[in-house]
Amino acid sequence: MLLDDFFSPRILVIAGKGGVGKTTVSAALALVAARRGRKVCVAEIDRKGTLPRLFGGGTLGYQPSELSPGVWGMNVIVEEALAEYLKVQYHLNRISRMFTSPQFVDYITTAAPGLKDILVLGKIWYLEQGRSAGGQVQDFDTIIVDAQAGGHMLTFLSAPMGLADAVQVGPLRRQSEWIIDMLRDRERTRVHMVTLAEEMPVQETVETSDALRARVGLVPGVAFANAVYTSHHHSQGSLERFRPEELDAGVLKQEAKAAGFRLEDDDITALIGYAGFFKARSAIQRRHLAGLRRNIEEPVIELPFLFSAGLALPDIERLADEIEVRVADI
Ligand SMILES: Nc1ncnc2c1ncn2[C@@H]1O[C@H](COP(=O)(O)OP(=O)(O)OP(=O)(O)O)[C@@H](O)[C@H]1O
Ligand SMILES: [Mg+2]
Repeated sequence: MLLDDFFSPRILVIAGKGGVGKTTVSAALALVAARRGRKVCVAEIDRKGTLPRLFGGGTLGYQPSELSPGVWGMNVIVEEALAEYLKVQYHLNRISRMFTSPQFVDYITTAAPGLKDILVLGKIWYLEQGRSAGGQVQDFDTIIVDAQAGGHMLTFLSAPMGLADAVQVGPLRRQSEWIIDMLRDRERTRVHMVTLAEEMPVQETVETSDALRARVGLVPGVAFANAVYTSHHHSQGSLERFRPEELDAGVLKQEAKAAGFRLEDDDITALIGYAGFFKARSAIQRRHLAGLRRNIEEPVIELPFLFSAGLALPDIERLADEIEVRVADI
Protein backbone atom coordinates (compact mmCIF):
# COMPACT_ATOMS: atom_id res chain seq x y z
CA MET A 1 0.00 0.00 0.00
CA LEU A 2 1.20 3.50 -0.73
CA LEU A 3 1.86 5.62 2.34
CA ASP A 4 -0.22 8.36 0.80
CA ASP A 5 -3.15 5.96 0.66
CA PHE A 6 -2.52 4.92 4.23
CA PHE A 7 -2.81 8.56 5.28
CA SER A 8 -5.63 9.42 2.94
CA PRO A 9 -8.25 9.26 5.74
CA ARG A 10 -7.47 12.31 7.84
CA ILE A 11 -8.42 10.75 11.14
CA LEU A 12 -6.55 7.70 12.42
CA VAL A 13 -7.86 6.19 15.64
CA ILE A 14 -5.30 4.02 17.42
CA ALA A 15 -6.99 1.40 19.56
CA GLY A 16 -5.80 -1.42 21.78
CA LYS A 17 -5.56 -2.91 25.25
CA GLY A 18 -3.76 -1.02 28.03
CA GLY A 19 0.00 -0.86 27.72
CA VAL A 20 0.34 -2.49 24.30
CA GLY A 21 1.98 0.58 22.75
CA LYS A 22 -0.84 2.79 21.48
CA THR A 23 0.92 6.02 22.36
CA THR A 24 4.24 4.77 20.99
CA VAL A 25 2.65 3.71 17.69
CA SER A 26 0.67 6.99 17.52
CA ALA A 27 3.94 8.91 17.85
CA ALA A 28 5.67 6.79 15.19
CA LEU A 29 2.76 7.22 12.79
CA ALA A 30 2.86 10.96 13.41
CA LEU A 31 6.53 11.00 12.38
CA VAL A 32 5.79 9.02 9.23
CA ALA A 33 3.05 11.46 8.27
CA ALA A 34 5.22 14.49 9.09
CA ARG A 35 8.05 13.10 6.95
CA ARG A 36 5.59 13.17 4.08
CA GLY A 37 5.00 16.86 4.63
CA ARG A 38 1.77 16.51 6.54
CA LYS A 39 0.81 18.67 9.46
CA VAL A 40 -0.15 16.18 12.15
CA CYS A 41 -1.96 16.50 15.44
CA VAL A 42 -1.89 13.66 17.95
CA ALA A 43 -4.84 13.92 20.31
CA GLU A 44 -4.22 12.31 23.67
CA ILE A 45 -7.34 11.70 25.64
CA ASP A 46 -6.08 10.17 28.81
CA ARG A 47 -3.94 12.93 30.34
CA LYS A 48 -1.14 10.46 31.02
CA GLY A 49 1.45 12.72 29.42
CA THR A 50 3.24 9.82 27.71
CA LEU A 51 3.26 11.47 24.31
CA PRO A 52 5.28 14.65 25.07
CA ARG A 53 7.80 12.52 26.98
CA LEU A 54 8.57 10.61 23.78
CA PHE A 55 9.41 13.93 22.15
CA GLY A 56 11.68 15.08 24.92
CA GLY A 57 9.35 16.45 27.59
CA GLY A 58 6.84 19.15 28.34
CA THR A 59 3.13 18.89 28.85
CA LEU A 60 0.20 19.08 26.49
CA GLY A 61 -2.67 21.47 26.82
CA TYR A 62 -6.02 21.71 25.11
CA GLN A 63 -4.54 24.00 22.48
CA PRO A 64 -2.32 22.00 20.11
CA SER A 65 1.39 22.70 20.49
CA GLU A 66 4.25 21.62 18.25
CA LEU A 67 6.27 18.69 19.62
CA SER A 68 8.65 18.27 16.70
CA PRO A 69 8.62 19.73 13.19
CA GLY A 70 5.19 19.06 11.74
CA VAL A 71 4.02 17.03 14.73
CA TRP A 72 1.59 18.71 17.10
CA GLY A 73 0.05 17.30 20.21
CA MET A 74 -2.93 18.15 22.35
CA ASN A 75 -4.85 16.81 25.27
CA VAL A 76 -8.60 16.59 24.78
CA ILE A 77 -9.67 17.74 28.23
CA VAL A 78 -13.40 17.18 28.66
CA GLU A 79 -14.08 20.38 30.65
CA GLU A 80 -12.44 22.45 27.93
CA ALA A 81 -14.25 20.56 25.20
CA LEU A 82 -17.54 21.37 26.92
CA ALA A 83 -16.57 25.03 27.30
CA GLU A 84 -15.69 25.18 23.61
CA TYR A 85 -18.92 23.47 22.66
CA LEU A 86 -21.02 25.92 24.69
CA LYS A 87 -19.09 28.82 23.21
CA VAL A 88 -19.56 27.69 19.62
CA GLN A 89 -23.09 26.47 20.04
CA TYR A 90 -24.69 29.01 22.36
CA HIS A 91 -22.14 31.81 22.43
CA LEU A 92 -21.97 31.17 26.14
CA ASN A 93 -18.81 32.88 27.11
CA ARG A 94 -19.05 34.25 30.56
CA ILE A 95 -21.44 31.89 32.25
CA SER A 96 -19.78 28.87 30.71
CA ARG A 97 -17.28 28.90 33.63
CA MET A 98 -19.95 27.57 35.92
CA PHE A 99 -21.07 24.90 33.49
CA THR A 100 -17.57 23.72 32.89
CA SER A 101 -16.32 23.37 36.43
CA PRO A 102 -15.03 19.84 37.06
CA GLN A 103 -17.89 19.26 39.54
CA PHE A 104 -20.54 20.19 37.01
CA VAL A 105 -18.90 18.09 34.30
CA ASP A 106 -18.77 15.16 36.74
CA TYR A 107 -22.41 15.71 37.52
CA ILE A 108 -23.68 15.76 33.97
CA THR A 109 -21.42 13.02 32.67
CA THR A 110 -22.68 10.80 35.48
CA ALA A 111 -26.24 11.76 34.64
CA ALA A 112 -25.63 11.13 30.94
CA PRO A 113 -22.92 8.53 30.49
CA GLY A 114 -21.35 8.69 27.10
CA LEU A 115 -21.50 12.48 27.03
CA LYS A 116 -17.80 12.67 27.86
CA ASP A 117 -17.03 10.50 24.85
CA ILE A 118 -19.23 12.62 22.64
CA LEU A 119 -17.51 15.79 23.79
CA VAL A 120 -14.14 14.26 22.96
CA LEU A 121 -15.32 13.02 19.56
CA GLY A 122 -16.99 16.37 18.99
CA LYS A 123 -13.61 18.03 19.48
CA ILE A 124 -12.08 15.64 16.93
CA TRP A 125 -14.88 16.65 14.57
CA TYR A 126 -14.09 20.35 15.16
CA LEU A 127 -10.44 19.59 14.41
CA GLU A 128 -11.39 17.78 11.23
CA GLN A 129 -13.57 20.68 10.19
CA GLY A 130 -10.72 23.09 10.94
CA ARG A 131 -12.86 24.90 13.49
CA SER A 132 -12.20 26.11 16.96
CA ALA A 133 -13.91 28.45 19.37
CA GLY A 134 -10.87 30.69 19.58
CA GLY A 135 -11.43 31.57 15.95
CA GLN A 136 -7.94 30.46 15.05
CA VAL A 137 -8.14 27.92 12.29
CA GLN A 138 -5.85 24.98 12.64
CA ASP A 139 -5.82 22.86 9.61
CA PHE A 140 -4.31 19.48 10.28
CA ASP A 141 -3.76 17.07 7.40
CA THR A 142 -3.69 14.14 9.78
CA ILE A 143 -5.37 13.76 13.16
CA ILE A 144 -4.23 10.79 15.24
CA VAL A 145 -6.49 9.84 18.12
CA ASP A 146 -4.61 7.95 20.82
CA ALA A 147 -7.74 6.22 22.08
CA GLN A 148 -8.59 4.82 25.48
CA ALA A 149 -7.55 1.32 26.38
CA GLY A 150 -9.48 -1.78 25.55
CA GLY A 151 -13.22 -2.22 25.76
CA HIS A 152 -13.74 1.39 26.68
CA MET A 153 -12.75 2.34 23.16
CA LEU A 154 -15.83 0.54 21.82
CA THR A 155 -18.08 2.42 24.24
CA PHE A 156 -16.24 5.56 23.20
CA LEU A 157 -16.83 5.03 19.49
CA SER A 158 -20.44 3.89 19.90
CA ALA A 159 -21.43 6.77 22.22
CA PRO A 160 -22.78 8.94 19.36
CA MET A 161 -25.03 6.08 18.20
CA GLY A 162 -26.48 5.83 21.70
CA LEU A 163 -27.11 9.55 21.78
CA ALA A 164 -28.67 9.60 18.33
CA ASP A 165 -31.02 6.82 19.47
CA ALA A 166 -31.93 8.60 22.67
CA VAL A 167 -32.43 12.06 21.22
CA GLN A 168 -34.82 12.12 18.34
CA VAL A 169 -34.69 15.79 17.32
CA GLY A 170 -32.69 18.96 17.81
CA PRO A 171 -29.09 20.03 17.52
CA LEU A 172 -27.72 17.20 19.67
CA ARG A 173 -29.32 14.66 17.40
CA ARG A 174 -27.88 16.36 14.34
CA GLN A 175 -24.44 16.69 15.87
CA SER A 176 -24.27 13.08 16.93
CA GLU A 177 -25.18 12.12 13.39
CA TRP A 178 -22.33 14.25 12.06
CA ILE A 179 -19.96 12.37 14.35
CA ILE A 180 -21.39 8.98 13.31
CA ASP A 181 -20.91 9.93 9.65
CA MET A 182 -17.31 10.95 10.37
CA LEU A 183 -16.53 7.66 12.13
CA ARG A 184 -18.17 5.37 9.62
CA ASP A 185 -16.76 7.00 6.51
CA ARG A 186 -13.61 5.10 5.55
CA GLU A 187 -12.45 8.06 3.50
CA ARG A 188 -12.43 10.18 6.64
CA THR A 189 -11.64 7.88 9.55
CA ARG A 190 -9.67 4.67 9.90
CA VAL A 191 -9.35 2.72 13.14
CA HIS A 192 -6.06 0.86 13.49
CA MET A 193 -5.42 -1.63 16.24
CA VAL A 194 -2.31 -2.22 18.30
CA THR A 195 -1.54 -5.49 20.03
CA LEU A 196 1.30 -7.46 21.54
CA ALA A 197 2.13 -10.98 20.38
CA GLU A 198 0.61 -12.40 23.53
CA GLU A 199 -2.48 -14.43 24.22
CA MET A 200 -4.79 -11.88 25.88
CA PRO A 201 -4.05 -8.87 23.66
CA VAL A 202 -4.37 -11.02 20.53
CA GLN A 203 -7.70 -12.38 21.71
CA GLU A 204 -8.91 -8.87 22.48
CA THR A 205 -7.78 -7.63 19.08
CA VAL A 206 -9.76 -10.36 17.34
CA GLU A 207 -12.82 -9.42 19.41
CA THR A 208 -12.31 -5.72 18.76
CA SER A 209 -12.04 -6.30 15.05
CA ASP A 210 -15.41 -8.11 15.08
CA ALA A 211 -17.04 -5.65 17.46
CA LEU A 212 -16.01 -2.61 15.43
CA ARG A 213 -17.88 -4.01 12.47
CA ALA A 214 -20.89 -5.23 14.43
CA ARG A 215 -21.31 -2.49 17.02
CA VAL A 216 -19.86 0.62 15.44
CA GLY A 217 -20.41 -0.22 11.80
CA LEU A 218 -16.88 0.37 10.63
CA VAL A 219 -14.14 -1.71 9.07
CA PRO A 220 -10.79 -1.48 10.85
CA GLY A 221 -7.55 -0.71 8.99
CA VAL A 222 -4.48 -2.66 10.08
CA ALA A 223 -3.31 -4.37 13.26
CA PHE A 224 0.12 -3.37 14.52
CA ALA A 225 1.77 -6.26 16.35
CA ASN A 226 4.12 -4.31 18.57
CA ALA A 227 7.31 -5.32 20.37
CA VAL A 228 8.04 -8.47 18.36
CA TYR A 229 11.40 -10.05 19.23
CA THR A 230 12.41 -11.56 15.93
CA SER A 231 11.60 -10.28 12.55
CA HIS A 232 9.14 -12.01 10.33
CA HIS A 233 11.76 -12.64 7.66
CA HIS A 234 14.56 -14.41 9.50
CA SER A 235 12.15 -16.15 11.83
CA GLN A 236 11.32 -19.81 11.42
CA GLY A 237 14.40 -21.67 10.22
CA SER A 238 17.10 -19.58 11.83
CA LEU A 239 15.30 -19.45 15.16
CA GLU A 240 14.97 -23.23 15.28
CA ARG A 241 18.60 -23.73 14.35
CA PHE A 242 19.72 -21.33 17.06
CA ARG A 243 20.89 -23.42 20.06
CA PRO A 244 21.76 -21.19 23.03
CA GLU A 245 22.90 -24.22 25.04
CA GLU A 246 25.64 -24.84 22.47
CA LEU A 247 27.08 -21.33 22.72
CA ASP A 248 30.75 -21.49 23.63
CA ALA A 249 31.76 -19.38 26.64
CA GLY A 250 35.31 -18.92 25.35
CA VAL A 251 34.17 -17.72 21.94
CA LEU A 252 31.65 -15.35 23.51
CA LYS A 253 34.31 -13.85 25.75
CA GLN A 254 36.62 -13.31 22.80
CA GLU A 255 33.91 -11.73 20.69
CA ALA A 256 32.99 -9.41 23.55
CA LYS A 257 36.62 -8.44 23.95
CA ALA A 258 36.90 -7.69 20.25
CA ALA A 259 33.82 -5.48 20.57
CA GLY A 260 35.50 -3.62 23.41
CA PHE A 261 33.97 -4.94 26.62
CA ARG A 262 34.78 -7.57 29.22
CA LEU A 263 32.45 -10.38 30.16
CA GLU A 264 32.88 -12.39 33.36
CA ASP A 265 31.80 -16.02 33.68
CA ASP A 266 28.60 -14.92 35.47
CA ASP A 267 27.77 -12.61 32.60
CA ILE A 268 28.21 -15.45 30.13
CA THR A 269 25.92 -17.74 32.13
CA ALA A 270 23.31 -14.99 32.33
CA LEU A 271 23.68 -14.29 28.62
CA ILE A 272 23.19 -17.92 27.62
CA GLY A 273 20.20 -18.14 29.95
CA TYR A 274 18.74 -15.04 28.37
CA ALA A 275 19.32 -16.39 24.88
CA GLY A 276 17.32 -19.49 25.84
CA PHE A 277 14.53 -17.30 27.19
CA PHE A 278 14.64 -15.17 24.05
CA LYS A 279 14.33 -18.21 21.83
CA ALA A 280 11.40 -19.60 23.82
CA ARG A 281 9.62 -16.21 23.92
CA SER A 282 10.14 -15.69 20.20
CA ALA A 283 8.60 -19.07 19.44
CA ILE A 284 5.59 -18.21 21.61
CA GLN A 285 5.26 -14.82 19.91
CA ARG A 286 5.34 -16.45 16.46
CA ARG A 287 2.54 -18.77 17.52
CA HIS A 288 0.34 -15.90 18.70
CA LEU A 289 1.10 -13.92 15.56
CA ALA A 290 0.02 -16.86 13.42
CA GLY A 291 -3.19 -17.06 15.46
CA LEU A 292 -3.78 -13.35 14.96
CA ARG A 293 -3.29 -13.61 11.20
CA ARG A 294 -5.69 -16.57 11.04
CA ASN A 295 -8.43 -14.80 12.97
CA ILE A 296 -8.59 -11.28 11.58
CA GLU A 297 -8.97 -10.06 8.04
CA GLU A 298 -6.91 -6.91 8.52
CA PRO A 299 -3.25 -6.89 7.50
CA VAL A 300 -0.83 -7.37 10.40
CA ILE A 301 2.18 -5.07 10.62
CA GLU A 302 4.94 -6.31 12.91
CA LEU A 303 7.01 -3.76 14.80
CA PRO A 304 10.25 -4.72 16.55
CA PHE A 305 10.84 -4.84 20.27
CA LEU A 306 13.31 -2.06 21.03
CA PHE A 307 15.90 -2.81 23.64
CA SER A 308 16.31 0.59 25.18
CA ALA A 309 15.45 1.62 28.67
CA GLY A 310 12.59 4.08 28.19
CA LEU A 311 11.83 4.92 24.59
CA ALA A 312 12.89 8.30 23.22
CA LEU A 313 12.76 10.09 19.89
CA PRO A 314 15.44 7.98 18.12
CA ASP A 315 13.44 4.84 18.98
CA ILE A 316 10.27 6.38 17.61
CA GLU A 317 12.17 7.30 14.44
CA ARG A 318 13.20 3.63 14.19
CA LEU A 319 9.60 2.49 14.47
CA ALA A 320 8.62 5.11 11.90
CA ASP A 321 11.25 3.67 9.49
CA GLU A 322 9.81 0.23 10.08
CA ILE A 323 6.23 1.37 9.47
CA GLU A 324 7.26 2.99 6.18
CA VAL A 325 8.72 -0.30 4.96
CA ARG A 326 5.91 -2.50 6.25
CA VAL A 327 3.05 -0.41 4.94
CA ALA A 328 4.60 -0.63 1.49
CA ASP A 329 4.38 -4.44 1.82
CA ILE A 330 0.63 -4.64 2.38
N1 LIG B 1 8.35 -1.58 20.32
C1 LIG B 1 8.61 -1.45 21.61
N2 LIG B 1 9.75 -1.96 22.13
C2 LIG B 1 10.02 -1.84 23.46
N3 LIG B 1 9.21 -1.22 24.33
C3 LIG B 1 8.06 -0.69 23.88
C4 LIG B 1 7.69 -0.77 22.50
N4 LIG B 1 6.50 -0.15 22.34
C5 LIG B 1 6.14 0.30 23.56
N5 LIG B 1 7.07 0.00 24.49
C6 LIG B 1 7.02 0.31 25.93
O1 LIG B 1 5.83 -0.26 26.47
C7 LIG B 1 5.23 0.61 27.41
C8 LIG B 1 3.79 0.92 26.98
O2 LIG B 1 3.81 1.69 25.78
P1 LIG B 1 2.73 2.84 25.51
O3 LIG B 1 2.72 3.82 26.62
O4 LIG B 1 2.94 3.32 24.13
O5 LIG B 1 1.42 1.94 25.58
P2 LIG B 1 -0.11 2.42 25.61
O6 LIG B 1 -0.89 1.37 24.92
O7 LIG B 1 -0.22 3.81 25.13
O8 LIG B 1 -0.37 2.35 27.18
P3 LIG B 1 -1.66 2.96 27.94
O9 LIG B 1 -2.79 2.00 27.66
O10 LIG B 1 -1.19 2.91 29.38
O11 LIG B 1 -1.89 4.34 27.42
C9 LIG B 1 6.11 1.83 27.49
O12 LIG B 1 6.98 1.68 28.57
C10 LIG B 1 6.89 1.80 26.18
O13 LIG B 1 8.12 2.43 26.30
MG1 LIG C 1 -0.99 5.56 26.05
